[in-house]
Amino acid sequence: MIILKSPREIEAMDKAGDVLAAIHESLRDFIKPGITGMDIEEYVEKLMKQHGATPEQKGYQGYEYSTCVSVNDEICHGFPREEQLKQGDLIKVDMVINLNGSLADSCWSYSVGEPTDEIQKLMDVTKEALYKGIEAAQLGNRIGDIGHAIQTYVEAEGFSVVREFIGHGIGPTLHEKPSVPHYGEAGKGSRLKEGLVITIEPMVNTGTWRSKMDDNGWTARTQDGGLSCQYEHTIAITKEGPQILTKQQGE
Ligand code: MF3
Ligand code: CO
Repeated sequence: MIILKSPREIEAMDKAGDVLAAIHESLRDFIKPGITGMDIEEYVEKLMKQHGATPEQKGYQGYEYSTCVSVNDEICHGFPREEQLKQGDLIKVDMVINLNGSLADSCWSYSVGEPTDEIQKLMDVTKEALYKGIEAAQLGNRIGDIGHAIQTYVEAEGFSVVREFIGHGIGPTLHEKPSVPHYGEAGKGSRLKEGLVITIEPMVNTGTWRSKMDDNGWTARTQDGGLSCQYEHTIAITKEGPQILTKQQGE
């Protein structure tokens, strides 16, 4: 069952989203060669605490960290590690914040030091893919319209869209209905109604979309070792159009 949210619930999620966005903004200057995934984890935990919020991912289905820090060919659910990040790495920092019971979920990609041309293009295309998906999330459209917009754009740019991990409804709990694939057919799937809150979180690869799972049972990486990039927003469907609840400054 798809649970729609009231304007008041959406406003509370928007407040959580503002805090999450501010944390991502702080990471822009924090992430540089020499820092570790664990440094990011501890910095994020400190900022969440300062804002009176808690990390929803920690303890979620046994996940042990407040962030996922996925490096280069890691698609998602990378554990923050003690290893130093280096110039030319591409990292994805994913987190879910809980502010007074309201959740917001957003992943952002960062280049460590100056990006290579390949990384810059991959980041540009993935971010644009997210915006194409958001633009398709109009009242009256269907779930399939979102994935179709993303997949068509990404493949025309010569990259591929991950299939195994998808967006989701979000509310008092992290993963709710409906599922939001980042590929598929226009006009298919359930209709987007006012009050629906979902994540759109395309993972885009330079090579194959196929993934393999690490022995830790969490971390997915590209099967061919190619790079993977991700941007994610939590959005609400409103009469005025899609409202980005995790919008950052300068977006
Ligand atoms: N933030 C992720 C998402 O977009 C969820 C991470 S799963 C966790 O759905 F277990 F690592 F928290
Ligand atoms: Co996320």
